[in-house]
Amino acid sequence: MTDLLMLNLYKLAYRKLMRPLLFRLDAQTAHERVIDLIGRLDSYPTLLRQLHTRLFPVIPTPIGPITLDSPIIIAAGLVKGHGFRQEALALEAVARGENIIPGWQSVPALCGPVEFGSFTRHPRIGNQGRVIWRDVHTRSTQNRIGLKNPGAIAAAEFLRSRPLPPQFGINIAVSPGLSDPAQEITEAVEAFEAFLQRGVRPTWFTLNLSCPNTEDDPGDHQTEGRTRDLCAKVIARLENTPLWVKIGPNLAESQYRTLMRVFHEVGVSAVIATNTLPMPTPEDSRVMAGVGGGNLAAHALRVTRFLTEEKRRHGYTIAIVGCGGVDHAPSFHTFRAYGAAAVQVWSLLVYEGLLGAALILAEIK
Ligand SMILES: Cc1cc2nc3c(=O)[nH]c(=O)nc-3n(C[C@H](O)[C@H](O)[C@H](O)COP(=O)(O)O)c2cc1C
Repeated sequence: MTDLLMLNLYKLAYRKLMRPLLFRLDAQTAHERVIDLIGRLDSYPTLLRQLHTRLFPVIPTPIGPITLDSPIIIAAGLVKGHGFRQEALALEAVARGENIIPGWQSVPALCGPVEFGSFTRHPRIGNQGRVIWRDVHTRSTQNRIGLKNPGAIAAAEFLRSRPLPPQFGINIAVSPGLSDPAQEITEAVEAFEAFLQRGVRPTWFTLNLSCPNTEDDPGDHQTEGRTRDLCAKVIARLENTPLWVKIGPNLAESQYRTLMRVFHEVGVSAVIATNTLPMPTPEDSRVMAGVGGGNLAAHALRVTRFLTEEKRRHGYTIAIVGCGGVDHAPSFHTFRAYGAAAVQVWSLLVYEGLLGAALILAEIK
């Protein structure tokens, strides 16, 4: 069977069979089933890698000092691990041999570059109750998972003894709820160091400066002084690993302008534009949750274009990674035309399945 035929059969099977079955479940249950599935698939890396080689063309994609094999990266939030209440419990689970980061092996083997995380310095159980929705008409997702994760130390302990993918990123989020900027920097730096000290060296690190679904959306982390301090201290510890920064879609142009100048001055390698857009949830308009997919696309594109213009105006060398509603070849091309060196995707996987990126790559190669 030719590779193109295989992809077309997959597209048909996903759209006509798997997606309708998954969409009979509410978005959260479907998400949990998929996490369970990618955890089970972690046992079959060789098979998945063979599929990858057939279905994903290599498209060398320079992003600052690194060159990825694909311009489509799986965004943070899919391979991020289980939530835990305490570090000791997460470490015990690692010691018992539990797969605390489902998809750590299967998703990179199948899809190529993946950004793991977000991880925080301390583990988090995340928000309780209903935290994931989908809006099929606009091909959007919405979530308020709230940075559920095993914590940086347990995640690093888990990954240190495992064969790591050839190209991957690790996304670290600043600890929500901290009012003391010094403590915020200490915890962020400790989270990065948790990986480096255990020999877990990703191709890039990302600092997530935009967490719309936690107790304090750290909007004011994106002010000049705090951002400069935080990024500079993190970069000083990373040796040669490039730092990317992920930002929100709803800042004022003056804030984006300032952030770009600061990122340039401290040596940030790339900016991911953007994280999700906080909007009221379908069930309770007083509760906000981050929208991705179709309803984010115009915002993320606007930010991408604005950052590119800033970059060109001032001669900054920072790369822009577009993120927001990329779900077919035309939306990929629009981000590229607006100056993105690469894109990240999440909602695409809901609407086109785990081979969603392969479908786009087949059209653009
Ligand atoms: C269920 C879910 C969980 C997410 N968790 C994270 C996260 O932990 N860290 C992060 O930086 N972004 C997270 N995101 C945001 C995505 O990485 C991405 O920025 C956003 O969904 C926009 O991309 P999209 O339009 O392709 O979905 C999450 C998104 C979803 C849908």
